[in-house]
Amino acid sequence: MTTTARKYVGTPLDRVEGMEKVTGRARYAYEHSPDELTYAVPVQASIARGEVRAIDVRAALTIPGVIAIIWHRNAPRVAPADNAELSVLQSARVAYRGQYVAVAVAETLQAAGEAARSLAVDYASEPHDTELRADHPGLYRPEKVNAGYPTDSEHGDPDAAMEAAPIRVDAIYSTPAEHNNPMEPHATVARWDADGLTLYDSTQGASAVRATLAALFAMPPANVRVIAPHVGGGFGSKGLPLAPVVLAALAAKHVNRPVKLAVPRQQMFAVTGYRTPTIQRVRLGADADGRLTAIVHEAIEQCSTIREFVEQTTVPTRIMYAAPNRRTTHRVVKLDVPTPSWMRAPGEAPGMFALESAMDELAIACGIDPVELRVRNEPDADPESGEPFSSRNLVACLREGARRFGWADRDPTPGARLVGQTLIGTGVAASTYPAYRSPSQASARLEPDGRYTVRIAATDIGTGARTVLTQIAADALRTSPDRVTVEIGDSAMPPASIAGGSMGTASWGTAVVRACEALREQVSGSGGGLEATADTKEEIGAQERFSRHAFGAQFAEVGVDVDTGETRVLRLLGVFAAGRIVNPKTARSQFIGGMTMGLSTALFEESLMDREFGDYLNRDLAQYHVAACADVRDIEAVWVEEDDPHLNPMGTKGIGEIGIVGTAAAIANAVHHATGIRIRDLPIRLDKLLR
Ligand code: MOS
Repeated sequence: MTTTARKYVGTPLDRVEGMEKVTGRARYAYEHSPDELTYAVPVQASIARGEVRAIDVRAALTIPGVIAIIWHRNAPRVAPADNAELSVLQSARVAYRGQYVAVAVAETLQAAGEAARSLAVDYASEPHDTELRADHPGLYRPEKVNAGYPTDSEHGDPDAAMEAAPIRVDAIYSTPAEHNNPMEPHATVARWDADGLTLYDSTQGASAVRATLAALFAMPPANVRVIAPHVGGGFGSKGLPLAPVVLAALAAKHVNRPVKLAVPRQQMFAVTGYRTPTIQRVRLGADADGRLTAIVHEAIEQCSTIREFVEQTTVPTRIMYAAPNRRTTHRVVKLDVPTPSWMRAPGEAPGMFALESAMDELAIACGIDPVELRVRNEPDADPESGEPFSSRNLVACLREGARRFGWADRDPTPGARLVGQTLIGTGVAASTYPAYRSPSQASARLEPDGRYTVRIAATDIGTGARTVLTQIAADALRTSPDRVTVEIGDSAMPPASIAGGSMGTASWGTAVVRACEALREQVSGSGGGLEATADTKEEIGAQERFSRHAFGAQFAEVGVDVDTGETRVLRLLGVFAAGRIVNPKTARSQFIGGMTMGLSTALFEESLMDREFGDYLNRDLAQYHVAACADVRDIEAVWVEEDDPHLNPMGTKGIGEIGIVGTAAAIANAVHHATGIRIRDLPIRLDKLLR
C-alpha cells in the first residue's frame, strides 16, 4: 500500500473546535434541552444479590412535579440483548449493588431526586460473593477473551523449559479494580417522536449506540439518531452503550416526553464499567546470558453474573519476546459485582505491569541491564503467529530512551542513592499496543463555494480526532485544512467504528482518504459528480497478513521518602514507535495523557470492595485518587517515526492507549531500584514501602 502524499499530516494544527470549546459554545450531551423536557434520576439497588419484591411509590407520586416512577413492573419492554446489562428494569433480579432498579421522572431535577430518594424498595436479599481469589472454585476457562482473542496459547513445553532453566523468575502480581472517571460523566437526552428515537449521548460511538438501541426497541436503525459532536473523555467507559442510555430511552418512551439523564460521579462506580482486578502469575526461564527459554503468564479476573467480560491480560505477552516455550492463559469467575468493561488498554495495561516487572526481576537475577535484556530477547517475527511484524521498533525506542534519559551511567545497585531523606531510583519498561483498523464509511463533497465538506460518524472524545481528520482530508484533497470542514459525531452521517482500541484515526482516516480520492477523481473526470462516498469494508477485509503493533519504552525516575514511604515520580519519559504521527501537538497530549494515567495506576488508583455490602466503597474523586497536576512533574513523550507501508493510507498505528502501557511497571521497577523493595501489587501505596 502506498501512503498518501502529505503536507498537513505531520504538522501541529490547532484543534479545529478549540475556540468553540474554550468559549463554551461546544455543547455536550447534557446541555441539550428540547421542549417539554423532563428529568430522570435513577435508583440503584442497595443489595448485592437478590430480588426486588415491591416498590412503594405512593409517597413519591405525591411530590409536586413527579410524572412517573418506572420499575420492572411497569417499564416498557425491550428486546433481549447479548449484553444483559442492557436489559434495564426488565426483571426483579438484582445482580450487583448499584444496579438500576427504578427511575423517577419529574418536571425538575430536584423533584426527580426527591422522588428517587423517597422510594421504599422491598428486597429479598440473598448471600453474595464479591471477592476475587486465586483459589475461587468458580474460576473457569472462557471461550474467548476481549477483542476476540483465544483464551489460552501454548507453544513448546514451557513446564519442562522452566524446570531446565538455570535462571528463573516465578512471581505473583496483582492489580486492583480501577474505575474510569472521565471529566464529563455519562449523560443522555432522549426524545421520541413520529420518526423514532433521538439521543444526545455522551458516547465513543454514535453508530454503535444507534445499532444497539434500534435492536433493543425493535426498530430499523434509520429510526434512531444519535448525536454526539463533543464528548469529554471516555477511556472505554463510553465505548459501548450501557445501562444509562437504555434507561434514558426507556424513561422517555414511558412518559412520552424528552428525558434528561446524567450519571453523577457517585453512580459511575457501579453502572459504567471498570477495569477488573487481576491476579497474575508470571514465570520466566532464561539462560545465564538472559535469553528467555520459557515464558508463562497466567491471569485470573472477575466478571459479573450477567455478562461475561474477560480482559485480554496476557495477550500482549504473546508478541513481546522471543522464547521457544510459551504459555498464556485467562481464567475468570462470575461474582455478584458490577460488570467490568473497557478501561484504557484493557489487557495491555495490567498485563504489561506484570510482564515488565518480571522482566526487571529477571534482569537483576541475570545481572544484565534491563534495557539490554529486552534487546537480547527481541523476536524476528511474531512469536505467536509467525507472521512478520509490519514494523517493530521496540529496540529503537529503548535505545533512544536510554540516550535521552541518561541511562548509561546507571548503577544497578538497589537502595543506594539517598539524597537528603529521599531514596532515588530509575526504572524502564516496554510498552505495546495493537494497530487495529475497523471498517467505516465516509463522504466528501465539493461545495458551490469551492470548499469541501467531509462527513463521518466518528467521535472526538477529546483526542483531536476532528482535527487530524481535517489534516488527512486536506492532504487527500490536495487542499489546505481551512478549506475543509469535517463533520462528525452524528449517526446520520456515514457509519463509523467507535473511538476505541486506539483505532479511530486508522479506521476513519482510511474511509476519509478513500472518499476524498473518489471525489477528486469525479471532479477531474468529465461526468463530474460533486459528492463521493467510500466504504472500507472490502479494503480492510483484504489486507495482507502482518502482525501490526506499536511499541514503546517507558523510563521513570522516582524519589521515595525514607520516613513516610511516599513515592514521587520525578521524571517520566516515553519513547514510542507508532507509525506516522499525524499531529505532533495532539499526539503528545495523547501520549502524556496515557502516561499520566499510568502514573495514576502505579501510585493511586484503587477501587476497594466492601465485602459486607458487596460494593465498591469509592464514590468520588476524594476516595478514588487520580494523579493531579502536582503529581506530574517532569513528563515527556517523544517518538521514533516509522514508515510502515502495511497499515493504512496514512501510515498510522494509533496512539490513544499505548501511553498507559508499561508506565506502572517502569515506576515499580524504579521504586525497587530506589528502595530494594519489590512491589508486585498495585498501587504502590506508602504503607507497602514502610518495613
Ligand atoms: Mo479504549 S478502552 O479501547 O476506549
